[in-house]
Amino acid sequence: LPRIRTHHLQQAKTSGEHFAMLTAYDQYTAEIFDEAGIEVLLVGDSASNNVFGNETSLPVTVDELLPLCRAVTRSAKRALVVADLPFGSYEVSPQQAVATGVRFLKEGLAHAVKLEGGKFYAETVRAMVQAGIPVMGHIGFTPQSEHSLGGYRVQGRGDDAARLVDDAAALAEAGAFCVLMEMVPAETAKAVDAAISVPTIGIGAGNATTGQVLVWQDMAGLRGGRMAKFVKQYADLRTALSDAAKAYGDDVRSGQFPGPEHSF
Ligand code: KIV
Ligand code: NA
Repeated sequence: LPRIRTHHLQQAKTSGEHFAMLTAYDQYTAEIFDEAGIEVLLVGDSASNNVFGNETSLPVTVDELLPLCRAVTRSAKRALVVADLPFGSYEVSPQQAVATGVRFLKEGLAHAVKLEGGKFYAETVRAMVQAGIPVMGHIGFTPQSEHSLGGYRVQGRGDDAARLVDDAAALAEAGAFCVLMEMVPAETAKAVDAAISVPTIGIGAGNATTGQVLVWQDMAGLRGGRMAKFVKQYADLRTALSDAAKAYGDDVRSGQFPGPEHSF
């Protein structure tokens, strides 16, 4: 199968089809999701709180994300690999954003990048696209701004819906190949999707978007703790791994492992 490219996602939107995106941060998840037919893999800055043990996405750095990104791209034969620009790596100027984007494509082997923000970043998106860097926008709830947004809150309710439509239109007009929306009312996301011709991706944004995305450790039940309302858990990897670790530990302590069949 040929590599998924941004124009394939555009085709999906144009013909009313849907595509799936999952986060991936390493070799085996990238390989498994790619072979499972997931169209887009996101090396999210959510690696901060799903790989590196931070509480939020804010502390993760470009230098931490680049090797994860390389691992994912090397391991995925078909999926389009998108890398998140982490907090602080693109806000200063379009020049800073271009320089960081170049690093993700050159050193991270990413096919595209994603940044958080609306209309305000239109000029930044334009500069990046001009430089040959495909850009995905991310609006609605933007985790890098959680301190200014006052925590995890649904965005784009009521009158605020018009602002999201405006943001999405400005990003698309600037050349973004796709706009992702996080935690926005389904009706608002539907209006945004209808207002722009490029594909949309939702997470907690209803089912009218072209694509959907979930953090893989949420989707597969690896992470413990409370799940957001928008998460659907398709497996219970946490229990499976915990049971395996306990059984291994018991076997070692009781002298059952290794057996003759594992010995030379
Ligand atoms: O970093 C991330 O995982 C994301 C998605 C959940 C949208 O940005
Ligand atoms: Na992110």
